[in-house]
Amino acid sequence: MGYILGLFLTIMVINNVDSQELKLRKPYSQKNCPATMTNQMKAANILIARKIIRKLENITSVLDCSQPCASDSLCAYFSYHSVNRRCLHFKGLLAEHTIAQLMSDGWRYGRSVNGKIVFYTKLSTCDTEYCQKSCLFDIKEFVDGFIPYGAGNGDQFVREGDDVTDCTPVSGDFPLFTTKGHYRLCISSNGYFTVDTQSFSYTPSLENNAHIMMIPFNADTRSNGSDISFRMTSDPNDMILIDEAIMLSLNRPGYPADYKTKQALLVTNNNIPHYKYSRSNERYHFQTVLATDFTHTFIYMSFDRVDVGGPDNIGFNQPGICTRKFGLKSDGSLVTNSNIGIPGKYVFLAVC
Ligand SMILES: *[C@@H]1O[C@H](CO)[C@@H](O)[C@H](O)[C@H]1NC(C)=O
Ligand SMILES: *[C@@H]1O[C@H](CO)[C@@H](O)[C@H](O)[C@H]1NC(C)=O
Repeated sequence: MGYILGLFLTIMVINNVDSQELKLRKPYSQKNCPATMTNQMKAANILIARKIIRKLENITSVLDCSQPCASDSLCAYFSYHSVNRRCLHFKGLLAEHTIAQLMSDGWRYGRSVNGKIVFYTKLSTCDTEYCQKSCLFDIKEFVDGFIPYGAGNGDQFVREGDDVTDCTPVSGDFPLFTTKGHYRLCISSNGYFTVDTQSFSYTPSLENNAHIMMIPFNADTRSNGSDISFRMTSDPNDMILIDEAIMLSLNRPGYPADYKTKQALLVTNNNIPHYKYSRSNERYHFQTVLATDFTHTFIYMSFDRVDVGGPDNIGFNQPGICTRKFGLKSDGSLVTNSNIGIPGKYVFLAVC
């Protein structure tokens, strides 16, 4: 009796303390979840609530949530809600179905690994028992800290080959990079992009180049047909992730005071090799986001692996208008440096 009363009181207290944090609305409305799920989900919420060691309110960015954990071993994992600006700290890893539950309620769940923020992301497959028996989805930790990519996220792939390029249409309202009226963006197997026209050069110079182009990283790499992927996206989940990074750059002179991405082109080079098969152990893993609100365009780059450096030509070129180099050294230091406080990540406004 005492035990039951104690349990009841514990549940009451936890429910009161955390009702603000854990609300559980979406799984039901989204998927017509059977009513029998309600109790299981409430129980999962109690499990989550028990593991919270600290809560932060009114935080301004994901860094306010992740940074305290860098020096605090109690806070192995954190959860971050970008809309209600709340942060939860956890002592340990939560069970998978409870992570999926947090995520279905708008929380992101992750940890800091050597200063890099690593998040769990939703998968488009449903292979676990909890996924098949509930209204939740399968999840996976994306250790590269990139915006989710690949076939499961609707990406297309650059064809197989050396010095190949594939193009995707873009809206004429998308500034590339400082002018509008463009119609396509072409992705090269050598790491760079050109606008409207195609280039097959393997190490283009940025200056005096006839192409409108952007180089996040360039080396003489090749495509295996399923390692360079891209998609144009307006998905709200992608927009939130992109804006979190861009927000960290907005205090710079000349940058807009406020900004919200409406559309973005996402290009991921997923461990692409050098073109020479004898150097095929070299790998290059980076992601580039060209984000726009149709007034400004931001370039957001994330680097996870750069084994051998390339030419120092990172930036963009707008023939007859300007060539803008970002001043980054094109080598392994890209993975550890940053201009927004998160190792491997860089944000630049596309202005001359
Ligand atoms: C957060 O902001 C709200 C509204 O400004 C305020 O009422 C609340 O006290 C703040 N909470 C903390 C912990 O600062
Ligand atoms: C192509 O690259 C991807 C990503 O690195 C890898 O998973 C895949 O196995 C590679 N395919 C071939 C045929 O080498």
